[in-house]
Amino acid sequence: MPRRLPLFATAARGTEELLAEELAELGAVRVRADRGGVRFLANLHEALRIALWSRIAMRLLWPLAEAEAHGAQGLYDAAHAVPWEEHLDPGATFAVEATLRDSEHTHSGFVALKIKDALVDRLRERRGERPDVDTRRPDVSIVAHLAGTRLSLSLDVAGAPLNQRGYRVRPTVAPLKETLAAAILHAVRYSGDEPLVDPMCGSGTLVIEAGLIAVRRAPNLHRRFGIERWPSLGPEARAILERLRAEARANERRAPFPIRGFDRSTEAVEAARANVRAARLEREVTLTTADATRPLPLGEVDHGLLVTNPPYGDRLTQGGQKGMKTFYFQLGERLGGLAGFRMAILSGNPAFEAAFHHRPLRRRPLWNGPIECTLLEYAPRAGRTPGDAPPHHGRSGSAAPRLSDPGLAPTEKPADVSPVRPEHRREEHRDQPRRSDGSPGDEPGDRDRDEPGEQ
Ligand SMILES: C[S@@+](CC[C@H](N)C(=O)[O-])C[C@H]1O[C@@H](n2cnc3c(N)ncnc32)[C@H](O)[C@@H]1O
Repeated sequence: MPRRLPLFATAARGTEELLAEELAELGAVRVRADRGGVRFLANLHEALRIALWSRIAMRLLWPLAEAEAHGAQGLYDAAHAVPWEEHLDPGATFAVEATLRDSEHTHSGFVALKIKDALVDRLRERRGERPDVDTRRPDVSIVAHLAGTRLSLSLDVAGAPLNQRGYRVRPTVAPLKETLAAAILHAVRYSGDEPLVDPMCGSGTLVIEAGLIAVRRAPNLHRRFGIERWPSLGPEARAILERLRAEARANERRAPFPIRGFDRSTEAVEAARANVRAARLEREVTLTTADATRPLPLGEVDHGLLVTNPPYGDRLTQGGQKGMKTFYFQLGERLGGLAGFRMAILSGNPAFEAAFHHRPLRRRPLWNGPIECTLLEYAPRAGRTPGDAPPHHGRSGSAAPRLSDPGLAPTEKPADVSPVRPEHRREEHRDQPRRSDGSPGDEPGDRDRDEPGEQ
């Protein structure tokens, strides 16, 4: 890869623009967000730097060919036309992975098989010998995508999806993909220079990705890439990566602010703890069992980013959708009342926003796998803490729910809310506009709560 070549990084639906921003920051040129990913140009050094540092990219591909492919013969012919001998020696192993969209073929395995046959035949014709297939640890991974009759064939530079960071040793139910968690943190401009809290952390993906950002660790520092085993570029890639890895190690720092994860489930907290340990972030990330609808034991953390991915609920959830609305309402009371925290919430339940009863600053559609979600961002508010009286609920037309909504009931003030220390209040109000009497003035979060918002 001596010159700059056209590469394609895949991304979760809705994160393409975020990935494009990240790739430009990492030195890619001619960056263009496209459906399902981002096209860009990079030379070998730049591509490897991206492989090491991209937090949002799912796969890093080098597209070799794109062609019309009708029927089984069309697949074979399109694959046979690719100069595979430039990338594969007969002694090397390879694997083909195929994905289909709107295709006449129904089995991706069949498409992969046709491409494999064409590749093997071509190498035998040109070199007199064929390479072997190794689906477990191939030297060269080939990615085929068939959209309708349009076949694209690429080499997988990273060799495997980049979200496989290696720290998920104990998954829980419905974890976020590492790359989606990183995209959320990128979207809300988390740089590691403020405290971060996830009150429903599950397996800990958000707090771990935040930890990696905070310590400035390259997310893929501890993995080997497919390109390192390529017969063509392997030796050069390994030499470059040795330098890039050394630079990345020298770049690390201690996290300057605490990162806290909470979950009601002890099992989830234990899983998150194992994952945090595997990510080597025990010093940075603290995990505690706690209920997000009760006062969180935040310790000294009194400001920062609160980011979370609450349960979406489903048909089988106890209490159904009505129960979820009540839960979201309680979260709105508790989390929305925390002074000093800006909030970013990935919600996959359309009822969340109204039930949470705060008006977001921004909404961004994102897909968590097949589930359409919204990333809601809320400005920090000051002046009221979880123990104070509940906020005034919105007038009609605002995003706030009316209390007559089915499933919504005012939560009672819990008995265990501790009073806020006066010095704590002063700290919260330090940077807020003040009225002439010295009380905190309006700030966006307060106004937003009462007034109809732009929808
Ligand atoms: C969608 S999962 C979060 C997944 C997480 N982002 C991850 O990547 O693993 C929602 C989590 O919220 C937790 N949860 C539900 N109700 C809660 C409550 N009242 N307080 C704290 N955690 C709660 C569940 O135990 C679950 O782990």
